[in-house]
Amino acid sequence: MRITGAARLAGIMGWPVAHSRSPLLHGFWLDETGVDGAYVPLPVRPADIERALRALPVLGFRGCNLTIPHKQTALLVADHIDPLASRIGAVNTIVVAADGTLEASNTDVYGFRESLRGGAPEWSPAAGPAVVLGAGGSSRAVIAALGDAGVSEVHIVNRTPCRAEKVANDLATSAMRISVHSWNAASDLLDGAGLLVNTTSLGMTGEPPLDLDLVRLQRSAPVVDIVYVPLETGLLARARRRGHPVVDGLGMLLHQARPGFEAWFGAEVRVTPELRAAIVKTLAPAQ
Ligand SMILES: NC(=O)c1ccc[n+]([C@@H]2O[C@H](COP(=O)([O-])OP(=O)(O)OC[C@H]3O[C@@H](n4cnc5c(N)ncnc54)[C@H](OP(=O)(O)O)[C@@H]3O)[C@@H](O)[C@H]2O)c1
Repeated sequence: MRITGAARLAGIMGWPVAHSRSPLLHGFWLDETGVDGAYVPLPVRPADIERALRALPVLGFRGCNLTIPHKQTALLVADHIDPLASRIGAVNTIVVAADGTLEASNTDVYGFRESLRGGAPEWSPAAGPAVVLGAGGSSRAVIAALGDAGVSEVHIVNRTPCRAEKVANDLATSAMRISVHSWNAASDLLDGAGLLVNTTSLGMTGEPPLDLDLVRLQRSAPVVDIVYVPLETGLLARARRRGHPVVDGLGMLLHQARPGFEAWFGAEVRVTPELRAAIVKTLAPAQ
């Protein structure tokens, strides 16, 4: 990659940030499009997030992505917040506007929707209630995407009930009911469900496994795991063996990056098998 003095700049702010695949994936697109630009890791401590975001226009950056632990705090700093990001309560993309103000949005919703569309094209929002495991930041993006897709009923299963209650209160609409359940109820909820999505960190490398018997889930129901390290989690392996359509977490990661790239670098890009292969090479194999 060669950059000139006029290169467009963007990056990812996180703490830590070294594990992020975003520089690699934006670097792939920069190479592919030949845009004169650079996308760099920006290790920013929690105490410095406001100064760091305010420095973006000063340093000539077009914007940045945000990852742990900055996704919520950036809401307090940005000048304009997309209504979807406010509803979810988290921001992952900042675009510096022409007047130097900071525009914040959340592209995880788009990323999940596109990944589900590509990975399970036969799925219909009318197929039955969606069961969502987890009530963290990513669960909020997933549930908002399911609402936008036309799902009318979501069951959240979470270890900490009050966290799930808050998600239900924030995201339920007149068109989408959300109920909250304990893990003991999870396998019963699969009876008649049209979709199962794991948004917990269970099953991720280094975390406890996700133990859930899928026997009650109809075989046409897609099983989605947004964990992408390993790429095929235990949940996905079991679902694949039972014949469910399965969707791994890498698609969401790749698709969520697109809107930011296009805004900062001014070129249209696609999520292709070549991009996927380049990132898969960097992921640890299943344990
Ligand atoms: N594919 C993508 O693009 C993408 C995007 C974002 C996140 N992710 C992945 O999604 C996962 C969750 O991320 P997040 O940002 O939503 O995290 P988070 O806000 O910290 O939420 C973690 C969720 O996992 C649950 N959990 C954690 N340990 C558990 C345990 N031992 N037993 C039961 N439940 C447990 C938590 O339950 P409690 O509420 O009870 O603590 C909570 O629901 C991570 O693996 C992350 O890498 C993927």
